This record gives sequence, C-alpha cells and structure tokens, in this order.
Amino acid sequence: MLVRDFDRSQEYSTTTVAMVTSSYDGIINVMAAEWTIRSSIDPFLISLYVGYERKTYEMVRASGEFGLSYSSSDQAEIVHISGNYSRRSLDKIGTGMFPLLPSNRIKAPLIAGSICNFECRVVDEFPCGDHAIFVGEVLEGYYDDSKSPLVFHGGKFYRLGDRIPKKRTSEY
Ligand SMILES: Cc1cc2nc3c(=O)[nH]c(=O)nc-3n(C[C@H](O)[C@H](O)[C@H](O)COP(=O)(O)O)c2cc1C
Repeated sequence: MLVRDFDRSQEYSTTTVAMVTSSYDGIINVMAAEWTIRSSIDPFLISLYVGYERKTYEMVRASGEFGLSYSSSDQAEIVHISGNYSRRSLDKIGTGMFPLLPSNRIKAPLIAGSICNFECRVVDEFPCGDHAIFVGEVLEGYYDDSKSPLVFHGGKFYRLGDRIPKKRTSEY
C-alpha cells in the first residue's frame, strides 16, 4: 500500500553502505555512509555526502583524502558501530573491531573484508543543504568477488537476494 510520508519515504530506497576512513593529525576515523555515488566515468570520480557536524567532515576537509570500503554482508556489526558512534565520543578504530588494510596512495587505511575499496583524493567540495559533497578522484580501486554486499533498506541490513534473469534487448 502506498503511504504518503515525507520523512520515512527515503528509507525505502535501497542502498549499500560504505565505511569512510580518514586520517588527520594522528587520528584515524571511520564512519558509515550510504550516500556515495559514482559521478564520472573518466576521470573516475565518486561523490561522498557528509553531514557538517560529523568528525569525518573535519578530517576529510583537512586531509583532502578519504577511503571508501563498501561493506560486505559479514560487516553489519562494524557498519552499525561506525554509523552510530562519533569519534567525538568513541575511538572507533581504537576498539580493535575494524580490521585495517594499508592504503597505497592515501594516509587513511581501508577496512579489510569489504567487497570493494577505493582510495580517493578530494578534487571538489560543494555545499548541499546540511551535507557537504566531497568529489573524490579515485586513485586506487580493489574488489573481492568472494564477498557479497550488505544491503540497507528500511533502516535494516539484509543480504543480497536471488538473481532475477533478464532477457537480451534483442528478445523484446
Ligand atoms: C547505515 C548508515 C548510513 C549512514 N550514512 C551517512 C551518510 O551517507 N552521510 C553522513 O554524513 N552520515 C551518515 N550516517 C551517519 C554517520 O555515520 C554517523 O553520524 C557517524 O556517527 C559519524 O561519525 P563521525 O562523527 O566519527 O564522523 C549513516 C549512518 C548509518 C547507520
């Protein structure tokens, strides 16, 4: 049944969640972000939307870099922690719960066990309501096809469901 609800309607789009890593001034941080999107093929750009009040906003702004680790279905617990605690009250990386993978081109590490990871350099920043859009040029990309993505829908985590076969366009 179609429900008219301005506030909750956004929860019913389906996303996956990236863990955004940043490093500045001796601090390493991680936060969950479902609002990321590839924004250019060549150059390879990914836009990341970060609320101005997040510690991550300060750190990405100051360092000009960020890592993106797209969550696998094994990572629901750490995604939940990264998205519900701020570095202002908890040293998330210091808990030892986030397995780190060294980066090649940026200071911030990546999160090991993800389905894909990107190392990004900020090439632009735009204001967008209560979030900033950081446009990241992808310097390195990695994937692990033994992993399955974490699906985020209606505020809950799921595993990917069955594949739906599609016809070739010539069959229509
Ligand atoms: C599933 C999920 C997705 C989220 N997506 C975003 C997002 O796209 N952008 C954002 O600014 N915050 C997002 N958040 C909220 C931040 O992850 C949260 O405020 C976090 O505590 C910020 O951490 P920090 O202050 O250490 O940077 C999300 C939270 C969850 C649980």
